[in-house]
Amino acid sequence: MVHMDSYLASPWIFLINMFLSFWIINVHGQTSNFIVTDFGAIADGKTDNSQAFSDAWKKACETEGGRLLVPVGGGSFYVSGAQFKGPCTGQTIFRIDGTIIASDDLTLDDQDYWITFHEVDALTLSGNGFFDGNGASSWSHCAHAPNDSLCIRKQKAPTTIKINYVTNASIRDINLVNSKMFHLHIHESENVIVDNVHITAPEDSPNTDGIHIGDSCNIKIIGSHIATGDDCVSIGEGSTNVNISGVWCGPGHGISIGSLGKYEVEDNVTGITVRNCTLNNTDNGLRIKTWAPSKSANVVSNVTFTDINIYDVENPIIIDQYYCPHNSCSHNGESSVEIKGVKFIGVRGSSASETSVKVECSKSKPCQDIEFSGLDLTYEGQPSTAMCSSADDKFQGSHQVPSTCINLPHP
Ligand SMILES: *[C@@H]1O[C@H](CO)[C@@H](O)[C@H](O)[C@H]1NC(C)=O
Ligand SMILES: *[C@@H]1O[C@H](CO)[C@@H](O)[C@H](O)[C@H]1NC(C)=O
Ligand SMILES: *[C@@H]1O[C@H](CO)[C@@H](O)[C@H](O)[C@H]1NC(C)=O
Ligand SMILES: *[C@@H]1O[C@H](CO)[C@@H](O)[C@H](O)[C@H]1NC(C)=O
Ligand SMILES: *[C@@H]1O[C@H](CO)[C@@H](O)[C@H](O)[C@H]1NC(C)=O
Ligand SMILES: *[C@@H]1O[C@H](CO)[C@@H](O)[C@H](O)[C@H]1NC(C)=O
Ligand SMILES: *[C@@H]1O[C@H](CO)[C@@H](O)[C@H](O)[C@H]1NC(C)=O
Repeated sequence: MVHMDSYLASPWIFLINMFLSFWIINVHGQTSNFIVTDFGAIADGKTDNSQAFSDAWKKACETEGGRLLVPVGGGSFYVSGAQFKGPCTGQTIFRIDGTIIASDDLTLDDQDYWITFHEVDALTLSGNGFFDGNGASSWSHCAHAPNDSLCIRKQKAPTTIKINYVTNASIRDINLVNSKMFHLHIHESENVIVDNVHITAPEDSPNTDGIHIGDSCNIKIIGSHIATGDDCVSIGEGSTNVNISGVWCGPGHGISIGSLGKYEVEDNVTGITVRNCTLNNTDNGLRIKTWAPSKSANVVSNVTFTDINIYDVENPIIIDQYYCPHNSCSHNGESSVEIKGVKFIGVRGSSASETSVKVECSKSKPCQDIEFSGLDLTYEGQPSTAMCSSADDKFQGSHQVPSTCINLPHP
């Protein structure tokens, strides 16, 4: 029987594999695989392959179920910059098994994005390959010459991947390393799943956020590993219905909502769930930050953080409505961003500072309905403390650590 089964099964498996991997022929008899090397791409780390990638994308995009393939090339495919535009015909797959590397030419730091997917519906971005932002020269240049015009513009160094006006996308398995700025920016997009993505950059690399979400809804980030020099995940204005779970973060600045209130026109942030995540050796754990004074009066509401493991985190829980990094604003004004309906449930582990919970809300818009339950946060093996100001904080149950909030003087 065993012999029979395997005899019968193997040709089938062979045929199915062949069908799936090699001979995907669409109904019109065209192949739907477009391998970048067939369009002239060379993995020598120096030939600019931007045109070859764009040509391959164009074919994949106009073909129903088209797949752009980046093979393991024996080296890296240098791409100075590329925009992969839709609308496409049906589903489009971008599969990367090799490595794509960005320039280390500082003059190209002028671009905002390195690789952009724009107006694509039903996009799959997958594979075990690497997007290498090649950020080292950019970071060190600016560390040594902060007043260089390039570095003053540093806020605009290229993000590795921008997902822009994209709907129904799945981003799976890929690796993003050493971005010059954010690694993955999801903007004006809807129904996007990020699953099992690995993002790495040195702890001291500036502004290298892992994933930034803004003006987007129905976003899921699951089972991903993020270790960078800035926020692992940052959720900006206009984000609604965002679920983050199974994310491993550290080193970095934690999982953050904000900063908010910096610009005049900003949309609300609502329906954010962060569940079953681990923060190890990060500056912050779970953070909401708004500028003071702020230019907009948007609302952050319906936010739940639950089942969070904390290892040696400086500020495990922090709501900061006096955010103003690098002394870039005057401290004479309040934030008018409203924060209401935030739950911290089951946040456990070790704080690297005595105050594990710090809630510093705006005097003009005090935080409402901030709930804590099942906290267990220690500092050097002892109970840690919580400090709050201008907050309607509710510590549910006396068995948690910390179990009450001490009044914090305003800055
Ligand atoms: C950069 O400019 C600031 C303000 O103009 C100045 O205080 C600082 O010393 C300068 N830094 C360097 C490294 O030149
Ligand atoms: C993408 O999602 C939207 C909203 O859920 C839906 O209306 C649309 O039909 C979807 N497109 C595809 C190709 O599935
Ligand atoms: C996020 O989780 C909530 C509650 O578990 C669910 O209602 C919502 O649909 C989820 N959203 C996404 C984008 O997965
Ligand atoms: C929690 O996340 C980890 C990945 O970090 C995953 O392996 C595990 O299955 C998740 N557990 C639950 C209950 O979702
Ligand atoms: C933000 O939410 C508030 C209160 O729920 C609402 O009044 C306001 O219109 C919302 N703002 C935007 C830009 O949707
Ligand atoms: C809160 O957000 C979740 C999504 O994370 C959503 O399922 C739920 O309906 C929202 N609740 C309210 C009261 O808006
Ligand atoms: C946290 O990260 C450090 C390295 O920064 C590592 O040595 C340690 O094992 C990690 N802790 C956990 C619980 O994974």
